[in-house]
Amino acid sequence: MRDCLTGESMSEKIKSLIDRLGTEHRLSKEEWVTVFSEWDDEDRAYAAEKARALSLAQFGNKIFIRGIVEFSNICKNDCLYCGIRRSNTNAERYRLTEEEILSCCEEGYEYGFRTFVLQSGEDYGAYPPERMAGIVRSIKQAHPDCAVTLSLGELEYDALKLLKEAGADRYLLRHETADREHYGKLHPAEMSFDHRMQCLRWLKELGYQTGAGIMVGSPYQTNECLAEDMVFLAEFDPQMIGIGPFLPHKDTPFKDMRKGSYELTLFLLSLCRIMLPRVLLPATTALGTIRPDGREQGVLAGANVIMPNLSPTAVRKKYMLYDGKICTEDRSAECRDCIKARMKRIGYEVAVTRGDYV
Ligand code: SAM
Ligand code: FES
Repeated sequence: MRDCLTGESMSEKIKSLIDRLGTEHRLSKEEWVTVFSEWDDEDRAYAAEKARALSLAQFGNKIFIRGIVEFSNICKNDCLYCGIRRSNTNAERYRLTEEEILSCCEEGYEYGFRTFVLQSGEDYGAYPPERMAGIVRSIKQAHPDCAVTLSLGELEYDALKLLKEAGADRYLLRHETADREHYGKLHPAEMSFDHRMQCLRWLKELGYQTGAGIMVGSPYQTNECLAEDMVFLAEFDPQMIGIGPFLPHKDTPFKDMRKGSYELTLFLLSLCRIMLPRVLLPATTALGTIRPDGREQGVLAGANVIMPNLSPTAVRKKYMLYDGKICTEDRSAECRDCIKARMKRIGYEVAVTRGDYV
């Protein structure tokens, strides 16, 4: 708790740092540490108001929707936080065929989706880059007015180039943490912080609209880690930022770890919007899982994207990254209608457009 006098002057200090973020679009690592160590709900409300105004100025009351197709939950990696890690022998594994992926997109198109996100574990044995390139080409051929976003994990430069040439427009690859030591606590030794960061640089170089991001409250995350993340994001200047709370999964080594903070997630969304006003910023499924109206509150805090699920209902429960993931019983049409209604309730509308970064 802040005492009266110090509290008041500290609150002024945090607000003035938020103001400066709005004009200079970056803060030093030390300033970020101050923000994350000292913020309170009033500062969060102050940031949310600024962020919402920026989002409305940039996008109006239109929310971009992306249909996510989770086409395989098989993963060669073993991230300690993730429910589909290879060591989780309780996970029931599945793969969708190209025809099944295309039919999810077909259905999505009818519901007004103009971006399809293909996401999976790192399953390059079954979906080598050449096969993925074929799938991207087929989607683009069937829906030339749609964007394709990939979220396949880390790949080498040539593979990313092949996929870009096949027509992929965007790529989501959360950096997870910009702090090397923290990265080592979230991932097994065989996974490389440098390679993940290198992939992100390649993606930008190849002309992808590139998404980085983090889990808020991932185990061992400190205010210094978050400060590093904000410094990295300011410098990397991604077109998209994926931010959601860490949520434990019962069959992972982090099963007893605390979930991330809902309030801090909202605060971070606002800070990202203020720092990078044009960024495409989803109110994530994890945010909707931690609170029933989390995605609405995310939009009110500055987010402008929602990514409803387009996966076949039969496999949704198997793509369980964390316990309690929402929308696993629903059909795509229900998710679309649900999002439309939720947005309408807070005065926003779902846009039928690709929603590219401008
Ligand atoms: N394999 C691809 C990759 O590594 O980028 C895409 C799939 S991966 C499951 C997508 C994202 O899910 C990760 O970047 C991570 O941030 C998030 N995630 C995984 N486990 C999570 C958990 N327990 N809580 C919240 N988010 C989680
Ligand atoms: Fe699959 Fe982390 S467990 S990428």
